Amino acid sequence: MSESLLAYLNGEYLPRSEACLPITDRGLLFGDSVYEVIPAYGGLPFRVSHHLRRLDRSLAAIHMRNPLDHAQWQAVLERLAAQLPGQDQSIYLQVTRGAYPIRNHVIPQQVKPNVIAFTSVNPPRNPDNARRGIKAITLPDNRWHRCDIKATTLLANVLARAQATEEGADEAILIRDGAAMEGSASNLFIVSNGLLLTPPDSEDLLPGITRDLVLELAREAGAPYAQASIHHSDLETAEEVWLTSSTREISAVVELDGRPVGKGVPGEHWYRMDALFQACKERLRLGSECRDN
Ligand SMILES: Cc1ncc(COP(=O)(O)O)c(C=O)c1O
Repeated sequence: MSESLLAYLNGEYLPRSEACLPITDRGLLFGDSVYEVIPAYGGLPFRVSHHLRRLDRSLAAIHMRNPLDHAQWQAVLERLAAQLPGQDQSIYLQVTRGAYPIRNHVIPQQVKPNVIAFTSVNPPRNPDNARRGIKAITLPDNRWHRCDIKATTLLANVLARAQATEEGADEAILIRDGAAMEGSASNLFIVSNGLLLTPPDSEDLLPGITRDLVLELAREAGAPYAQASIHHSDLETAEEVWLTSSTREISAVVELDGRPVGKGVPGEHWYRMDALFQACKERLRLGSECRDN
């Protein structure tokens, strides 16, 4: 199925199996590249301008200019998503520094970025699964100190997720200097004494688009929230723990390090926030993109 879909490669749309990059691409050799994953609901890309602004920030942080402007990106995303009308999708895009014949850490002066994008189907959300919640473990955060850049150098994240899977969990929450930062591919929220908390923006975590939306929805709903450091021990006493991302939406962690979180089922705050989030998706389907400004 996915092989019959077209992918975007440097201005062209090609069957995925024909969309190839040279072996000297610096994204491949050095992880010298950044990416985005943009959800599409009912075939419609969600919160696009937020993702494109984060892409601009990631590129600026690695001293690259965006090869496409936002209107060009929008056109690419819409064309890819239109191949799966009405379906939920994850649209992946990546900008690499480009291919250069000599393998050298030094960034070449004359190098042309490579731009790729493709879409994949996501199964429709299963509300029963969402209400079952997920299991997580805590692990030391051994990533670099620029986790705010959405870079493709994800080996530490991949190994953390592998360990979580080996231990029968769905996600790993990463601990740095005693503080819980985020998941291996998700942002962290806890509810503590009725207050919704997420770690503050810093170079040690990704400014998630879903996290921003959750904070917006909390503000609009008048729910008390704050950005504050979350100590490892706060996870043990929290009433609720959530992990958010464009692909997992808002997941309630019901078991952490083998112990139940709260009552061991998703809590009342999660039910309320999940309903607000689903309503936002519904508004996208009805033609008014939810707060995409
Ligand atoms: C390390 C990390 N943190 C957080 C997130 C969540 O970000 P978003 O909500 O923009 O998908 C991701 C998403 O892949 C991630 O990889």
